[in-house]
Amino acid sequence: MDEYLSYLARPADIGGRQAKNRLSTLPMEANDSEPDGSPSEITIERYRRLSAGGWGVVYVEALASCERGRCRPRQLMLSKRNLDSFKRLSDAIRAASDTPPFIIYQINHGGRYALRPLVSYHSEILDPTWDMPEGGATASTAELDEAADATAETVKLCASAGADAADLKCCHGYLAAELFRPSNNRDDKYGGSLENRLRFMDALISAGAEAARDDGLIFGSRISIQEKFPGGIGSSGPDGTAFDFSGVAPLLERLKAAGAAFVCETMGVPYYNPETTRPQAGRPGLETALAEHHGMAGWVKSFNPAFAVIGAGYTSLKAGCVERAAKNIIAGDVDIIGFGRQSFADPDTAVKLLSGDAARVKWCAACGKNNCSTLLRAKAPAGCVVHDRAYRAELKKIQRGK
Ligand SMILES: Cc1cc2nc3c(=O)[nH]c(=O)nc-3n(C[C@H](O)[C@H](O)[C@H](O)COP(=O)(O)O)c2cc1C
Repeated sequence: MDEYLSYLARPADIGGRQAKNRLSTLPMEANDSEPDGSPSEITIERYRRLSAGGWGVVYVEALASCERGRCRPRQLMLSKRNLDSFKRLSDAIRAASDTPPFIIYQINHGGRYALRPLVSYHSEILDPTWDMPEGGATASTAELDEAADATAETVKLCASAGADAADLKCCHGYLAAELFRPSNNRDDKYGGSLENRLRFMDALISAGAEAARDDGLIFGSRISIQEKFPGGIGSSGPDGTAFDFSGVAPLLERLKAAGAAFVCETMGVPYYNPETTRPQAGRPGLETALAEHHGMAGWVKSFNPAFAVIGAGYTSLKAGCVERAAKNIIAGDVDIIGFGRQSFADPDTAVKLLSGDAARVKWCAACGKNNCSTLLRAKAPAGCVVHDRAYRAELKKIQRGK
């Protein structure tokens, strides 16, 4: 086996359990659930294919924690009522491979990006990024209490649903991330001081720690380490612009103290600065964006070497991803290499790469303005429009205005 590839083929430890190799899907919402949020046959088939595709980690997309936190009409939603349907999903993932992947469920509350927006505070930067009522009411303390309780309860369901791990999502501008941001100027217990801004995440971290103790659940968090706008996560204060470690370190400190096993690196708020979250092949500035992603992962790793760090920013490298990933692993900057759009483009990427069949990988074409995300924004089922005819047809429907 090629030397670089051999680094990706090695198992990785996540909280004492093993992922069979270093290749992970990244969570990719596809808006194809049953109306009640249960996985549909299409959802199950998507994940079955990823498992058969040889990934060491199958990272299940954002699962809404409650109806109020749902961002798309067919976003998956996990609750006590449909727990069995998620057990079937986990079973299907395991059954699709002789050496099953490590399974992570990502738990989310959509906040301002939910179908019925729950806006924590108004922001000149973010308010124009979504179709929400201008100057509308901000969430009451009781609404945030309810959202925190629902999300914490959903975290506690993950082990019974068959996941190895839960991701306490704190990224991309959704509720937990919005509240943690230094510019959150609410004047109740969810805003202002660091203590208050972390109250929502604290509830999720406590739930993760409880489920770890009672059910053996592993937990971690996907974090926008740097949002890249004034007062965003990773800035020094409400108006801070430059990246400042102190803007994100307190969250990592709490995760570490509670026994979290992994952190998945991401950046930005895709509704505001999409190319920060999804570096785009062929665009000027690509190398800078990649250096930032990979540098952020390295920073998290050096903050706590015991975290299994899942990195992003590899899809846009196409065939060059293997060498870059191996170099980052060798440098100790990352443990597991995550692929978002590439896992849509070719669910068999991992097995093809690891069997030395890179020539047959169908690479993400970084088409248009990322047509998979165009589908999602239009609330259509999302997938790869270049390599899968069904999603191409969905895109055409949108383009025809249907
Ligand atoms: C259609 C689509 C859906 C996504 N859904 C999620 C999601 O559910 N949770 C999440 O954390 N990130 C989500 N992302 C972001 C990806 O996980 C990933 O961070 C991003 O695409 C950059 O990685 P890549 O360059 O490998 O694609 C989504 C991105 C796209 C394009």
